[in-house]
Amino acid sequence: MERLTALLSKDLGFHDAPVSNGRHNFHSFPAKFPPQLSRFFIENLSVPGELVLDPMSGSGTTVVEAASAGRVGLGFDIDPLALLITKVKLTPLDTASVERQVNKVAQEAELSLMHPSRLEKEVNGRFDEKTKQFIDYWFSEQTQIELMSLLIQIEKVKDPDIKDFLKLTFSAIIVTKSGGVSLAWDLGHTRPHRLNQGKPKKYKPAIPEFEKRATKNLMGLTSNGEMVERSRVRFGNAENLPLQDESIDLIVTSPPYASNAIDYMRAHKFSLVWLGNEVDSLTELRSKYIGGDKVTDFDFESLPPLPESVISNISKLDNQKALVLRRYYSEMTRVLNEMRRVLRPGKVAIVVVGSSVMRGIDTETDRCLAEIGRALGLPCAGIGVRLLDRDRRMMPTSTKSRADSQIENRMHREFVLAFVKPN
Ligand SMILES: C[S@@+](CC[C@H](N)C(=O)[O-])C[C@H]1O[C@@H](n2cnc3c(N)ncnc32)[C@H](O)[C@@H]1O
Repeated sequence: MERLTALLSKDLGFHDAPVSNGRHNFHSFPAKFPPQLSRFFIENLSVPGELVLDPMSGSGTTVVEAASAGRVGLGFDIDPLALLITKVKLTPLDTASVERQVNKVAQEAELSLMHPSRLEKEVNGRFDEKTKQFIDYWFSEQTQIELMSLLIQIEKVKDPDIKDFLKLTFSAIIVTKSGGVSLAWDLGHTRPHRLNQGKPKKYKPAIPEFEKRATKNLMGLTSNGEMVERSRVRFGNAENLPLQDESIDLIVTSPPYASNAIDYMRAHKFSLVWLGNEVDSLTELRSKYIGGDKVTDFDFESLPPLPESVISNISKLDNQKALVLRRYYSEMTRVLNEMRRVLRPGKVAIVVVGSSVMRGIDTETDRCLAEIGRALGLPCAGIGVRLLDRDRRMMPTSTKSRADSQIENRMHREFVLAFVKPN
C-alpha cells in the first residue's frame, strides 16, 4: 500500500519524455495516454509474462506498452477505429514489404486518376444515401475521387496485415486534429465546421498526403520493441468482458469523460464511412459509448451518497444533464464491478479520469468513482494527480467563462486512481 502511495505521488505528467515506440504515432487519437504513464505502472505493478488489461483501450497505449515490456497486453474497445489502430500497432510487419505495397498503391492510384469516370461511378455507387450525403458534405468532389482511387488499390492488397496498415494510413490522412484532407477545419475540439472566419479550407491532394503519412508510419515500424505474440485487442464492452474471474494481473485504463466531452465517433466517422461503415450504424454505435447522452430506456444503477448528491445538485439546474451524469456513473459502476471480477486478489487497477463541468458544477469524477469502487468491494487506495497538456492530447475546450477558477484548475488535471482488489 505504501509503495502504491509513493508511485502516485511521483510526477505523472510525462509531457516532455521522448516517445520510445514510433508505433504510438501511427494515428491521432483524442485523450490518449502518454506511453510513459502506462509503462510506469506496468513496470512497477506487474512482472514479465503477466496479463495486463485495458478494457477501454482506445489507441492501445497500455496494450502496446505491456507487450513491449514483456507482459501480455489485452485490450477491448467498441470503437472500430480504435480497434484498427491497436491491431496495426501490435502486428509485426516487414518494413520492405510494406514499403513496396505503399509505393504500388500510390503509383496505381495516381494512374487511375487518368480515368476519373470509373472512380466517379464507384463513388456514386458504393455508399447508401445517408452515407453519401455525409461524404458529399465533408469531402470535395476531387478529394472523393482521390480517396476512392487509393481505397480501390488498398483493397487489392492480399496480405491482410499490410492491408490494415494501409487502411490505417488512409484513415490517418483524414482523422487529424485539423481535419486532414476533409473539408472540416477541426476534428479535435469542437463540432466540425467547414468555414473558418468565412473561409473554406485549402485543398490538399490526398495521394501525396498518403505517401507522406506512410513514410512517417514506416519509420515507426522499425522500432518494433519486444512485442509479445499473445497480446491482442478485441471488440468488447468494458461493462461485460469476455474474461474469466480473477484472471488479470494489472489494469491500466482511462474511461471516456462524463457527458460525451470527447465525442470519439464524431471524428472517427470521417474515415470509418470510407472503410465500409454506414452512417446509420455508426450513429447507433455512438449511443453505446460510455458517457453518451441518450437516457431513455437506460438501465440505471443505484449509487452511493456522493454521486447522488452531485447529480441532485445538477438536477436543480438541468434535469436532463443530471440524468446524463446518472447514466455515466451507472456505466462506470458496471465497469468497476467488471474490473473487480476479473482482477486477481491483491492486484491493482489504475484508472485515469478527468472531471467534467455540468451547468457550472464539477462532476467530481475522481471522488465519485472512488466511492463507487468502495461500495462494490474495490477500494481506492489513493488518488494521484497529473497536469494536462491540452493541446497535445486533444482535450475538450476550456469552460472558463462558466466555471470558477477552482473548477477550472481541476479541469486542467487528470486524476490517477489506484483501486486494489482485496485478498
Ligand atoms: C479515453 S479513451 C482511451 C484512450 C487510451 N487510454 C489511449 O491511450 O489511447 C476511452 C475509450 O473508451 C472507449 N469506450 C467507450 N465506451 C466503451 C465500452 N462500453 N466498452 C469499451 N470501450 C469503450 C472509447 O471508444 C475510447 O476509445
